[in-house]
Amino acid sequence: MKISIIGSTGSIGRQAIEVVQKMQGFFEIISLTGGDNIDLLREQIKLVAPKNVCVKSEENALKLQKEFPKLNVVFGEQGLVDIASDKTNERILVSVSGKTGLKPTLAAIENNIDVALANKETLVMAGDIVMARAKEKGVKILPVDSEHGAIHQCLSNREEVEKLIITASGGPFRTKTIEDIKNASVEETLHHPRWNMGKKITIDSATLMNKGLEVIEAHHLFSMPYEKIQVVVHPQSIVHSAVEYIDGSVIAQLGFPSMHIPIQYTLTYPHRFEGIETRSFDFVKAGRLDFEEPDMEKFPCLKLAFEAGKQGGTLPVVMNAANEEAVYMFLNGRISLWEIYEITAKMMEQHKNILNPTLDEILETDMMVRKSLVGSVCKN
Ligand SMILES: NC(=O)c1ccc[n+]([C@@H]2O[C@H](COP(=O)([O-])OP(=O)(O)OC[C@H]3O[C@@H](n4cnc5c(N)ncnc54)[C@H](OP(=O)(O)O)[C@@H]3O)[C@@H](O)[C@H]2O)c1
Repeated sequence: MKISIIGSTGSIGRQAIEVVQKMQGFFEIISLTGGDNIDLLREQIKLVAPKNVCVKSEENALKLQKEFPKLNVVFGEQGLVDIASDKTNERILVSVSGKTGLKPTLAAIENNIDVALANKETLVMAGDIVMARAKEKGVKILPVDSEHGAIHQCLSNREEVEKLIITASGGPFRTKTIEDIKNASVEETLHHPRWNMGKKITIDSATLMNKGLEVIEAHHLFSMPYEKIQVVVHPQSIVHSAVEYIDGSVIAQLGFPSMHIPIQYTLTYPHRFEGIETRSFDFVKAGRLDFEEPDMEKFPCLKLAFEAGKQGGTLPVVMNAANEEAVYMFLNGRISLWEIYEITAKMMEQHKNILNPTLDEILETDMMVRKSLVGSVCKN
């Protein structure tokens, strides 16, 4: 199968290359894209010999072009769109972080290319547009997130679904107090108990905003009203998510925590193959499985996401943009962890919602929120 990896230098992208390497002969990688990490991208180019690569800056593109004269090197947002539009691809993996995922995803859909979608921000920003267009074009959107991959495997007849149950590990602050969370350092926040991921999603996991983004993602992927989506904290991360049916039966997908498995599932769907982490699941070794209610007082970002999702329109766009900017401010030591919530809540409160927005209105709203945040933080 001919594939491209948009965001190959990230945590998901690197694991996708490991999956591809393990399945020698099954995949041909047409294109890779990185942001700023051209040292890793250079190694990946040598390893998988793609035809095209994209990087963030023109300067790095020129460097790589010089080193690999036969390679087609492009750069920037348009470069990502060009790579995602290449009809040679049978499937693309969109594993860039943040808002950067939206345009390449739409470009792939327009060109009838199936998308393995790791980038949850795409659906949070423009889920209605993306899913409607994918349906019109007959393009598959295959969720890489382990929770949504689990639901994808457990879901049969949507009409008979009572609710979707999305599990959450609870992050590094599950057993901490609000005061601990308010005073948390960047280092503590980046220390996730179960998953080794990129920085943005790791911070989102600590505030449970990640779970909120996943709730909105699930709403769009599975056309499920918010009232039928429940979040349950499950610290062992063995049950990846579940579907309850109207007769009271619950079908869950289980496995030891690993992103290789859901990545491989979306790249090889509808077929399954032995993979990097194929080992028999041992219920005895898994031991006890605990479940608890998420604490909305300690993790108010989850509440914000339910509110944003239910109201719809441009409110999730505002939430996503404010959160993303605030996460980077936190990582740069400019605000506290708790201020991520405060800033996001304030931006949502101030927003005059646009229902059924066009793509231009979504992009405009996203830009306005980011601009106003950069301004307000500079003033402080
Ligand atoms: N990690 C996980 O286990 C996991 C699980 C489920 C879903 N996801 C979702 O998957 C996405 C990626 O997560 P991740 O953990 O893999 O993130 P990550 O490690 O931070 O990687 C992000 C990737 O995006 C690239 N990138 C970032 N900004 C860019 C820009 N402006 N232009 C071009 N490329 C850009 C980065 O390039 P450089 O590094 O070269 O700058 C890198 O390749 C996120 O949406 C996340 O929510 C991740």
